[in-house]
Amino acid sequence: MINNSFWKTRAENYNKTSWVKDDHLLDAYLSLIPQNCVYENILEVGVGTGAVANKVVDMIGPLIGLDKSKEMMSKIEHDGITKVVGDAHNLPFDDSHFDFIYMRNVIHYLEDPSKVFDEISRCLKNESNYLFSQVIPFSDDISDEYDELIGRDIHYPTHSEITKLFSDYDILNEVEYVLEAQSIMNWLRNTCQDKQKQQKIMEQHRNTSDSYKKMVNYKEENDDIFVDIKHLFVLAEKHKY
Ligand SMILES: C[S@@+](CC[C@H](N)C(=O)[O-])C[C@H]1O[C@@H](n2cnc3c(N)ncnc32)[C@H](O)[C@@H]1O
Repeated sequence: MINNSFWKTRAENYNKTSWVKDDHLLDAYLSLIPQNCVYENILEVGVGTGAVANKVVDMIGPLIGLDKSKEMMSKIEHDGITKVVGDAHNLPFDDSHFDFIYMRNVIHYLEDPSKVFDEISRCLKNESNYLFSQVIPFSDDISDEYDELIGRDIHYPTHSEITKLFSDYDILNEVEYVLEAQSIMNWLRNTCQDKQKQQKIMEQHRNTSDSYKKMVNYKEENDDIFVDIKHLFVLAEKHKY
Protein backbone atom coordinates (compact mmCIF):
# COMPACT_ATOMS: atom_id res chain seq x y z
CA MET A 1 0.00 0.00 0.00
CA ILE A 2 1.32 3.49 -0.88
CA ASN A 3 1.00 6.22 1.77
CA ASN A 4 2.93 9.40 2.65
CA SER A 5 5.58 7.53 4.63
CA PHE A 6 6.35 5.40 1.54
CA TRP A 7 7.71 8.49 -0.28
CA LYS A 8 9.43 9.79 2.87
CA THR A 9 11.48 6.57 3.06
CA ARG A 10 11.88 6.19 -0.67
CA ALA A 11 13.29 9.72 -1.16
CA GLU A 12 16.66 8.69 0.33
CA ASN A 13 17.43 6.01 -2.26
CA TYR A 14 15.17 6.97 -5.14
CA ASN A 15 17.95 8.28 -7.41
CA LYS A 16 19.90 5.03 -7.02
CA THR A 17 17.17 2.99 -8.74
CA SER A 18 18.71 2.12 -12.10
CA TRP A 19 16.02 3.46 -14.45
CA VAL A 20 15.54 6.82 -12.68
CA LYS A 21 18.58 8.60 -14.12
CA ASP A 22 19.19 6.33 -17.10
CA ASP A 23 20.43 8.71 -19.82
CA HIS A 24 19.29 6.54 -22.75
CA LEU A 25 15.76 6.35 -21.36
CA LEU A 26 15.66 10.07 -20.54
CA ASP A 27 17.10 11.12 -23.89
CA ALA A 28 14.63 8.92 -25.82
CA TYR A 29 11.72 10.38 -23.82
CA LEU A 30 12.82 14.00 -24.04
CA SER A 31 13.65 13.75 -27.75
CA LEU A 32 9.85 13.84 -28.25
CA ILE A 33 9.63 17.46 -26.99
CA PRO A 34 8.77 19.61 -30.03
CA GLN A 35 11.73 21.92 -30.64
CA ASN A 36 10.06 24.63 -32.74
CA CYS A 37 8.03 26.14 -29.85
CA VAL A 38 8.57 28.86 -27.27
CA TYR A 39 7.92 27.53 -23.76
CA GLU A 40 7.14 30.22 -21.20
CA ASN A 41 5.23 28.18 -18.64
CA ILE A 42 6.25 24.56 -18.13
CA LEU A 43 4.93 22.12 -15.50
CA GLU A 44 6.08 18.67 -14.39
CA VAL A 45 3.38 16.78 -12.48
CA GLY A 46 4.94 14.44 -9.86
CA VAL A 47 8.43 15.92 -10.23
CA GLY A 48 9.89 13.69 -7.47
CA THR A 49 13.64 14.26 -7.03
CA GLY A 50 13.89 16.20 -10.31
CA ALA A 51 15.58 13.43 -12.35
CA VAL A 52 13.66 14.45 -15.50
CA ALA A 53 13.28 18.14 -14.64
CA ASN A 54 17.05 18.72 -14.33
CA LYS A 55 17.37 17.84 -18.01
CA VAL A 56 14.22 19.61 -19.18
CA VAL A 57 15.32 22.93 -17.65
CA ASP A 58 18.60 22.73 -19.52
CA MET A 59 16.77 21.88 -22.77
CA ILE A 60 13.83 24.30 -22.82
CA GLY A 61 13.91 26.54 -19.74
CA PRO A 62 12.80 26.96 -16.12
CA LEU A 63 9.75 25.08 -14.90
CA ILE A 64 7.39 24.42 -12.00
CA GLY A 65 7.68 20.97 -10.42
CA LEU A 66 4.65 19.85 -8.43
CA ASP A 67 4.66 16.86 -6.08
CA LYS A 68 2.73 15.77 -3.02
CA SER A 69 5.95 14.66 -1.27
CA LYS A 70 8.15 17.43 0.06
CA GLU A 71 10.74 14.77 1.02
CA MET A 72 11.11 13.72 -2.64
CA MET A 73 11.37 17.37 -3.74
CA SER A 74 13.96 18.12 -1.02
CA LYS A 75 16.48 16.30 -3.28
CA ILE A 76 16.01 18.89 -6.07
CA GLU A 77 18.94 21.30 -6.31
CA HIS A 78 18.49 22.96 -9.72
CA ASP A 79 17.74 26.72 -9.49
CA GLY A 80 15.52 26.51 -12.55
CA ILE A 81 12.96 24.32 -10.80
CA THR A 82 10.30 26.00 -8.64
CA LYS A 83 8.89 23.46 -6.19
CA VAL A 84 5.18 23.35 -5.38
CA VAL A 85 3.74 20.89 -2.87
CA GLY A 86 0.33 19.82 -4.16
CA ASP A 87 -1.93 17.05 -5.35
CA ALA A 88 -2.18 16.24 -9.05
CA HIS A 89 -5.94 15.64 -8.61
CA ASN A 90 -6.44 19.32 -7.83
CA LEU A 91 -3.73 21.35 -9.53
CA PRO A 92 -3.27 24.80 -7.90
CA PHE A 93 -3.00 26.64 -11.25
CA ASP A 94 -5.29 28.73 -13.47
CA ASP A 95 -7.01 27.36 -16.56
CA SER A 96 -4.89 27.40 -19.76
CA HIS A 97 -1.78 28.58 -17.91
CA PHE A 98 0.88 26.20 -19.26
CA ASP A 99 2.24 25.74 -22.76
CA PHE A 100 3.93 22.42 -21.93
CA ILE A 101 3.11 19.82 -19.25
CA TYR A 102 4.77 16.45 -18.75
CA MET A 103 4.49 13.57 -16.28
CA ARG A 104 6.64 10.44 -15.88
CA ASN A 105 5.82 7.34 -13.86
CA VAL A 106 3.14 8.80 -11.62
CA ILE A 107 -0.08 7.34 -12.97
CA HIS A 108 0.12 4.01 -11.08
CA TYR A 109 0.09 5.93 -7.79
CA LEU A 110 -2.98 8.02 -8.60
CA GLU A 111 -6.40 7.34 -7.05
CA ASP A 112 -8.15 8.68 -10.14
CA PRO A 113 -5.92 8.95 -13.24
CA SER A 114 -8.79 10.28 -15.35
CA LYS A 115 -9.32 13.22 -12.92
CA VAL A 116 -5.60 14.04 -13.16
CA PHE A 117 -5.75 13.96 -16.96
CA ASP A 118 -8.73 16.39 -16.75
CA GLU A 119 -6.72 18.68 -14.47
CA ILE A 120 -3.73 18.62 -16.82
CA SER A 121 -6.01 19.42 -19.74
CA ARG A 122 -7.62 22.30 -17.80
CA CYS A 123 -4.23 23.87 -17.00
CA LEU A 124 -2.84 23.43 -20.52
CA LYS A 125 -3.41 25.99 -23.31
CA ASN A 126 -5.31 24.80 -26.40
CA GLU A 127 -3.06 23.20 -28.99
CA SER A 128 -0.23 22.87 -26.46
CA ASN A 129 1.63 19.63 -25.76
CA TYR A 130 1.42 17.06 -22.99
CA LEU A 131 4.29 14.55 -22.83
CA PHE A 132 3.56 11.42 -20.85
CA SER A 133 5.72 8.46 -19.81
CA GLN A 134 4.95 5.34 -17.84
CA VAL A 135 6.42 1.92 -17.15
CA ILE A 136 3.89 -0.61 -18.46
CA PRO A 137 3.47 -4.40 -18.47
CA PHE A 138 5.16 -5.95 -21.50
CA SER A 139 1.77 -6.78 -22.97
CA ASP A 140 -1.81 -6.04 -21.92
CA ASP A 141 -2.58 -9.73 -21.30
CA ILE A 142 0.00 -10.15 -18.52
CA SER A 143 -1.38 -7.19 -16.54
CA ASP A 144 -2.58 -9.30 -13.56
CA GLU A 145 0.67 -11.29 -13.34
CA TYR A 146 2.65 -8.03 -13.52
CA ASP A 147 0.70 -6.31 -10.71
CA GLU A 148 1.13 -9.42 -8.53
CA LEU A 149 4.88 -9.54 -9.22
CA ILE A 150 5.48 -5.91 -8.24
CA GLY A 151 3.73 -6.72 -4.96
CA ARG A 152 2.53 -3.25 -3.99
CA ASP A 153 -1.23 -3.68 -4.15
CA ILE A 154 -1.42 -1.18 -6.98
CA HIS A 155 -2.43 -1.50 -10.61
CA TYR A 156 0.01 -0.65 -13.39
CA PRO A 157 -2.17 0.70 -16.23
CA THR A 158 -1.69 -1.11 -19.53
CA HIS A 159 -0.92 0.50 -22.89
CA SER A 160 -4.57 0.40 -23.97
CA GLU A 161 -5.89 1.71 -20.63
CA ILE A 162 -3.51 4.65 -20.96
CA THR A 163 -4.46 5.46 -24.55
CA LYS A 164 -8.13 5.79 -23.47
CA LEU A 165 -7.18 8.61 -21.08
CA PHE A 166 -6.18 10.87 -23.97
CA SER A 167 -9.74 11.80 -25.08
CA ASP A 168 -9.03 15.56 -24.81
CA TYR A 169 -5.98 15.25 -27.05
CA ASP A 170 -4.70 14.28 -30.47
CA ILE A 171 -1.95 11.72 -30.03
CA LEU A 172 1.00 12.91 -32.12
CA ASN A 173 3.48 10.16 -31.27
CA GLU A 174 3.57 6.94 -29.24
CA VAL A 175 6.76 5.02 -28.50
CA GLU A 176 7.29 1.78 -26.58
CA TYR A 177 10.85 1.91 -25.24
CA VAL A 178 12.52 -1.17 -23.78
CA LEU A 179 15.14 -0.74 -21.08
CA GLU A 180 17.15 -3.95 -21.19
CA ALA A 181 18.48 -6.17 -18.39
CA GLN A 182 17.29 -4.26 -15.33
CA SER A 183 18.36 -5.67 -11.97
CA ILE A 184 15.50 -6.72 -9.68
CA MET A 185 17.87 -6.56 -6.64
CA ASN A 186 18.76 -2.95 -7.45
CA TRP A 187 15.07 -2.07 -7.68
CA LEU A 188 14.18 -3.89 -4.44
CA ARG A 189 17.12 -2.54 -2.41
CA ASN A 190 16.18 1.02 -3.30
CA THR A 191 12.43 0.79 -3.01
CA CYS A 192 11.64 -1.76 -0.31
CA GLN A 193 13.15 -1.85 3.20
CA ASP A 194 11.54 -5.12 4.25
CA LYS A 195 14.08 -7.95 3.62
CA GLN A 196 11.42 -10.68 3.85
CA LYS A 197 9.34 -8.92 1.24
CA GLN A 198 12.43 -8.55 -0.97
CA GLN A 199 12.98 -12.34 -0.76
CA LYS A 200 9.32 -13.01 -1.48
CA ILE A 201 9.34 -10.84 -4.61
CA MET A 202 12.59 -12.47 -5.83
CA GLU A 203 10.97 -15.88 -5.35
CA GLN A 204 7.83 -14.78 -7.18
CA HIS A 205 10.02 -13.68 -10.12
CA ARG A 206 11.77 -17.08 -10.16
CA ASN A 207 8.35 -18.75 -10.29
CA THR A 208 6.88 -16.74 -13.17
CA SER A 209 5.57 -18.51 -16.25
CA ASP A 210 7.94 -19.51 -19.06
CA SER A 211 6.04 -17.25 -21.44
CA TYR A 212 6.57 -14.27 -19.10
CA LYS A 213 10.28 -15.09 -18.74
CA LYS A 214 10.69 -15.27 -22.50
CA MET A 215 8.87 -11.98 -23.05
CA VAL A 216 11.06 -10.03 -20.60
CA ASN A 217 14.38 -11.81 -21.43
CA TYR A 218 14.59 -13.17 -17.88
CA LYS A 219 18.16 -14.02 -16.74
CA GLU A 220 19.66 -15.07 -13.39
CA GLU A 221 23.22 -14.06 -12.50
CA ASN A 222 25.10 -13.80 -9.16
CA ASP A 223 21.92 -14.21 -7.06
CA ASP A 224 20.23 -11.41 -8.99
CA ILE A 225 17.50 -11.47 -11.66
CA PHE A 226 17.58 -9.29 -14.78
CA VAL A 227 14.55 -8.45 -16.92
CA ASP A 228 13.68 -6.02 -19.70
CA ILE A 229 11.30 -3.25 -18.66
CA LYS A 230 8.96 -1.50 -21.07
CA HIS A 231 8.16 2.23 -20.94
CA LEU A 232 5.44 3.97 -22.94
CA PHE A 233 5.94 7.56 -24.16
CA VAL A 234 3.00 9.54 -25.52
CA LEU A 235 3.23 13.02 -27.04
CA ALA A 236 -0.21 14.60 -27.32
CA GLU A 237 -1.68 17.95 -28.30
CA LYS A 238 -4.70 19.38 -26.50
CA HIS A 239 -7.73 19.82 -28.79
CA LYS A 240 -8.77 23.32 -29.71
CA TYR A 241 -12.37 23.81 -28.46
C1 LIG B 1 7.97 7.18 -9.29
S1 LIG B 1 8.05 8.83 -8.74
C2 LIG B 1 8.38 9.70 -10.27
C3 LIG B 1 9.16 10.98 -10.06
C4 LIG B 1 9.64 11.66 -11.36
N1 LIG B 1 8.52 11.99 -12.20
C5 LIG B 1 10.59 10.75 -12.10
O1 LIG B 1 10.22 10.23 -13.15
O2 LIG B 1 11.72 10.55 -11.61
C6 LIG B 1 6.36 9.25 -8.48
C7 LIG B 1 6.16 10.63 -7.85
O3 LIG B 1 4.79 10.95 -7.95
C8 LIG B 1 4.42 11.63 -6.75
N2 LIG B 1 2.97 11.53 -6.59
C9 LIG B 1 2.25 10.41 -6.37
N3 LIG B 1 0.93 10.72 -6.29
C10 LIG B 1 0.83 12.06 -6.46
C11 LIG B 1 -0.25 12.98 -6.45
N4 LIG B 1 -1.50 12.58 -6.27
N5 LIG B 1 0.01 14.29 -6.64
C12 LIG B 1 1.29 14.73 -6.82
N6 LIG B 1 2.36 13.90 -6.82
C13 LIG B 1 2.14 12.59 -6.64
C14 LIG B 1 5.22 10.93 -5.67
O4 LIG B 1 5.32 11.72 -4.50
C15 LIG B 1 6.55 10.70 -6.39
O5 LIG B 1 7.45 11.76 -6.18
